[in-house]
Amino acid sequence: MAAIRRRTLKVLTLLVLFIFLTSFLLNYSHNAVTTSWFPKQIVIELSENFKKLMTYSHRPCTCARCLSQRGVSPWFDERFNWSVQPLLTAQNALLEDSTYSWWLKLQREKRPSDLNDTLKMLFRVVPGNVDPLLQKKSQGCRRCAVVGNSGNLRGSEYGSQIDGHDFVLRMNKAPTAGFEVDVGSKTTHHLMYPESFRELAHNVSMVLVPFKILDLEWVVSATTTGTISHTYVPVPAKIKVKKDQILIYHPAFMKYVFDSWLQGHGRYPSTGILSVIFSLHVCDEVDLYGFGADSKGNWHHYWENNPSAGAFRKTGVHDGDFESLVTATLASIDKVRIFKGR
Ligand SMILES: *[C@@H]1O[C@H](CO)[C@@H](O)[C@H](O)[C@H]1NC(C)=O
Ligand SMILES: *[C@@H]1O[C@H](CO)[C@@H](O)[C@H](O)[C@H]1NC(C)=O
Ligand SMILES: *[C@@H]1O[C@H](CO)[C@@H](O)[C@H](O)[C@H]1NC(C)=O
Repeated sequence: MAAIRRRTLKVLTLLVLFIFLTSFLLNYSHNAVTTSWFPKQIVIELSENFKKLMTYSHRPCTCARCLSQRGVSPWFDERFNWSVQPLLTAQNALLEDSTYSWWLKLQREKRPSDLNDTLKMLFRVVPGNVDPLLQKKSQGCRRCAVVGNSGNLRGSEYGSQIDGHDFVLRMNKAPTAGFEVDVGSKTTHHLMYPESFRELAHNVSMVLVPFKILDLEWVVSATTTGTISHTYVPVPAKIKVKKDQILIYHPAFMKYVFDSWLQGHGRYPSTGILSVIFSLHVCDEVDLYGFGADSKGNWHHYWENNPSAGAFRKTGVHDGDFESLVTATLASIDKVRIFKGR
């Protein structure tokens, strides 16, 4: 009896292993150069694929609490979807029709170039093979600070606390020089689009958030020929950011933020909420700084002295109130922490 059971178990294990390897090969073999099928070749490919599997599977999280953990909140589990990829790579660049047509309407580009041609050009310039944010790192608990641009950072003295995180994500025009005490000086990733571009230090990854096809063309142009200097406003024709420091936010991930997290509120998500949900997928712990109004209800940026700024909240492009509700709910179930500043 026991022997039979042991044999059944063995067969089952082999079967599972077989299915696993086959499905994996099917998934990934299209990237591999399969010229000949010597046994040696097979072994090499298997080990390559295994390496990739270890790389692409979810990073092990050794934090006391890992934010992706299911079963804590049905609200979270309904929205969070591990399989949506945050970054655009040469392997995952095919957009579903519904995603493509949604994305195309965001900024109503008049004469969009062909997306396939643009992507081909894009991945000739920026690295498109790996998703460096999802790679397994030796560090088993990745703590991230997502730093928004709210005036509530002024006088907060959060600087050293922010710099103590493994990843520090900032966005758009955000400066650190002159504001180190309150906002810190470390940046690992900076999210922006052509119209909000700022130059970055040599070791900061630029995460381009493309709202139109022209944005993808711009990043190619800005790192090569410099022919694009105008979108709907003037944009820098040339940038110093190195090509291999450029990552591209996935348009399908943007739609996922809009559908799953914002439930269709606003016309499309702001860079702020796009950064927050992005961080849920690449980090194990997330601390938010510089989100929301200051204690007087003002919406200015921390580097500006203009309390009436924040007119963007009334343009109707983004639903700031709903986006705040989402981050507040994430905090209420301890998935993120919000540092409110002053
Ligand atoms: C999660 O995302 C994947 C990939 O986009 C999709 O195929 C799947 O249906 C999604 N799952 C849920 C539960 O929405
Ligand atoms: C891009 O190429 C894919 C096949 O590789 C095709 O299905 C799709 O329709 C093309 N998209 C455009 C906009 O030409
Ligand atoms: C980036 O380089 C600067 C020096 O130019 C250094 O002080 C800083 O620690 C580096 N940041 C990271 C995240 O490695």
